[in-house]
Amino acid sequence: MHVFTSAESQDSTAHEQVVFCQDRQTGLKAIIGIYSTALGPALGGTRFFPYASEEDALRDVLDLSRGMAYKNAVAGLDLGGGKAVIWGDPERIKTEPLLRAYGRFVQSLGGRYYTACDVGTYVADMDVVARETRYVTGRSREHGGAGDSSILTAWGVFQGMRAAAEHTWGAPTLAGRRVGVSGLGKVGRVLVRHLLDDGAKVVATDVSEKAVEFVRQAYPQVDIVPDTTTLITSDIDVYAPCALGGALDDDTVPALRAKVVVGAANNQLAHPGIEKLLADRGVLYAPDYVVNAGGVIQVADEIEGFNFERAKLRASRIYETTRDILRLADADGVPPAVAADHLAERRMAEVGRLRSIHLN
Ligand SMILES: NC(=O)c1ccc[n+]([C@@H]2O[C@H](COP(=O)([O-])OP(=O)(O)OC[C@H]3O[C@@H](n4cnc5c(N)ncnc54)[C@H](O)[C@@H]3O)[C@@H](O)[C@H]2O)c1
Repeated sequence: MHVFTSAESQDSTAHEQVVFCQDRQTGLKAIIGIYSTALGPALGGTRFFPYASEEDALRDVLDLSRGMAYKNAVAGLDLGGGKAVIWGDPERIKTEPLLRAYGRFVQSLGGRYYTACDVGTYVADMDVVARETRYVTGRSREHGGAGDSSILTAWGVFQGMRAAAEHTWGAPTLAGRRVGVSGLGKVGRVLVRHLLDDGAKVVATDVSEKAVEFVRQAYPQVDIVPDTTTLITSDIDVYAPCALGGALDDDTVPALRAKVVVGAANNQLAHPGIEKLLADRGVLYAPDYVVNAGGVIQVADEIEGFNFERAKLRASRIYETTRDILRLADADGVPPAVAADHLAERRMAEVGRLRSIHLN
C-alpha cells in the first residue's frame, strides 16, 4: 500500500511509472506518465504540443498526471491519475500513422492507462487512436464515445459556482450577481448560458474576436469588455477564469474585485502560496480541479458505455463536493485548495488500501 503524504504530493517524481515512446518513421515522441493507480486505471488526456525541450515535455506530463490523480480522486471516480504528452507541432506532424503508433503504445500498457483529448488533440483523433487500443475515451458519439467534454465541464463549473455562492451569500444561485467570464471558448460560452439561465448578469472577454462575436450574437445581453485586466477590476461578484492556466498570480489577486473565484481553467494558481494570498484577501477560491471535473466525469462514463444523463447526474454532484470542501476548509482553518488536496490524498490512501484485502 502506498500512503500519500502532503510533502510527497508536492513532489512531481512520486510517480508509479513513466514511459517514453518513440516511432522514428512517423516522428512520434510521446511520454506517458502514470502518477497513481491506487483507485483504478489512470485516466487523463493526451497533450500534443511543440515543447521547447524534452525536459519541458517531461515536466509537463509529471505535473499533469499528478493533477489528474487528485482530480479523479475528488470526483469520486474509480480511476487513478495519468496523462500523456506528444512532443511536436500537431499542425505539422499529426498524421493517422502517428496517432495509431501512439495508440499501440497505449495498448501496450494493458489498461493501466486510459487516454482522452487534451490541448492539441480532438474527438476525431481519439477515434483514430481507438483503432489500435481499447483504452481510449473521448471518442465521437458515432463511435460510442462521450463526445465533446466541455458540455459537462461547463455544467460542473456552474455547480461549483452555486456552492461557492451559497457559502458566501447564503443561497445556491447566481441570480442578481455579476459574473465575469474570461475565455469564451468551448467551456466559457456554455457557462455563460447556464449563468444567464440562472438570472446572473454576465461580463465577458476573450482575445479572439471570433469567440467574442459568437457570444455577442447568441447572448446580446452580455457586457463585453476589452481584456481580462478590465474584467477583474470591474464591479463583479464572481470571477470565472476559463482561458489559460496561471490566471491567479501576484499581480491579479490584489487587483481582484470579486469575492469569489470559480472557473474552468486548469492550474489557475500561478505558484504555491497564491491560495493563501486569496484567503488573506477574503476571496473564496473554489479549487480548479474540483469544479472542472465535469469533463473527466463525462469521458470516464464512456468506459461503462456512455450515458449522458448518468454522466450529468454525476457532474451535478460537483455542487455537493465543492460545498463540502469549502466547509472542511473553514473547519480546518486552511484554504480550500489545501482542503481539496487532503480529501484527494485521503481517498487514494483509504480506498487504495482495500486492495490489500486479498481476493481470489
Ligand atoms: N474542455 C474541457 O472539457 C476542459 C476540462 C477541464 C478543464 N478545461 C480547461 O478550461 C479552459 C478552457 O477550455 P476550453 O476547452 O474552453 O478551451 P478553448 O481553447 O476552447 O477556449 C479557451 C478560450 O480562451 C481564450 N483566451 C486565450 N487567452 C486569453 C486571454 N489572455 N484572455 C481572454 N481569453 C483568452 C481563447 O481565445 C479561447 O477562446 C482551459 O484552461 C482548459 O484546460 C477544459
